[in-house]
Amino acid sequence: MMPGVEAQGLVKILVIGSGGREHAIAWRLAREGHQVAGAPGNPGIAQVGEIRATTDYAAAAEGMDLIVVGPEAPLVAGVVDDLRSRGLAVVGPNRQNAQLEASKIHSKGFMRRIGIPTARFERVESAEAGIDALPKFEYPVVIKADGLAAGKGVIIAQDRAEAERAIHSLGPRLVIEEFLQGEEVSFIVISDGRSCVALEATQDHKTVGDNDTGPNTGGMGAYCDGRILSSAQAGVVMDTIIEPAIRVTGFTGFLYAGLMMTAAGPKVLEFNVRLGDPETQPLMHRMSASTSFADVLMGSATGSLAGARIEWNREPSVCVVMAAAGYPGQVRTGDVITGIDDSGARVFQAGTRVGVHGLETAGGRVLGVTSSGADLPAAIASTYAAVGKIHFEGMHYRRDIGAKGLRRWGTI
Ligand code: AMP
Ligand code: GLY
Repeated sequence: MMPGVEAQGLVKILVIGSGGREHAIAWRLAREGHQVAGAPGNPGIAQVGEIRATTDYAAAAEGMDLIVVGPEAPLVAGVVDDLRSRGLAVVGPNRQNAQLEASKIHSKGFMRRIGIPTARFERVESAEAGIDALPKFEYPVVIKADGLAAGKGVIIAQDRAEAERAIHSLGPRLVIEEFLQGEEVSFIVISDGRSCVALEATQDHKTVGDNDTGPNTGGMGAYCDGRILSSAQAGVVMDTIIEPAIRVTGFTGFLYAGLMMTAAGPKVLEFNVRLGDPETQPLMHRMSASTSFADVLMGSATGSLAGARIEWNREPSVCVVMAAAGYPGQVRTGDVITGIDDSGARVFQAGTRVGVHGLETAGGRVLGVTSSGADLPAAIASTYAAVGKIHFEGMHYRRDIGAKGLRRWGTI
């Protein structure tokens, strides 16, 4: 690093991934003045940094001071171990700890062993065993595929016939678990293996349709509001879930606990080993300008996170995902996107590419339209005002992002 560059604390940061989460991270770090690169990147990231259009991450990381890994797939494949062995500073878990997300059987067994609160479950490795296990549960019952499934490997079955179909379609390696009721919360911390700092709680909207109807997706929108968890609730999550998990595993990087806030306290639905997408979009939007996110990341990568703090703006933030025709099923691509520049919101790009007619759709979740407001109703209104200015054929999005918060806090 050039001495002058170091004096200002400016660093070269590679963001691995190509989705809306990675665009939001890159945007934030570029705003802090850092030199950002994305591998393989997307057209949104190209607006704030350099694109290294490769999935050879060791080559892309050359000359970088810090590497942040966005998605789960490279983590599960061991990219952190590989880059660390080359002497690089990397934010993310090693391959062993990435198993907390890669295998539901592994993560549920881990939670049971160390006493982390989670839904009662059975692991099964054949359809017959799955069907034999059903009488141990009431309906609805939750059937989960063991491996990575981009949020689509979970079926909530209302009756036995549906449960049997789910076992056949998701199996043979499955977790069958008790259905939990409550408010769902995404609780994400960044850890250096010993110390960790919690981000603000967010709420995702997993199903494709309004009022939580239709099939699950990777996430159709999220909001970040300081009231999602009280500090007492966040304390319970830290004490009963996050700290035990980190103590036992030495986990580094972002640990995401998908929680159900049940009447009996917070329980873990799943662990993810990375930032959430779309949760990251409202998080990056709401993080105070007085916080150096790059310092926090560097603290995680170098084991020096103790004492770090992250400040948040008071104004809530909201992200609405605009999805392509067909998502979460077979997606149509190549539809021209208009209206982003004049939308008035921060638009994080995910499934986009540049075609002969300009920006066009290239994947299921296309854009994450993100904005803030003086209060949650204002943040929702300004985000949807921007969504209304953006267009592509076949686009669809949920119209109720943030409505759970409005209901909880009595605004509607
Ligand atoms: P997962 O990938 O395990 O987080 O599951 C995806 C989604 O399914 C979650 O975000 C919840 O909305 C729902 N879900 C998963 N497990 C349960 C459960 N035990 N009870 C109720 N809903 C669940
Ligand atoms: N939005 C849910 C996830 O990132 O897994």
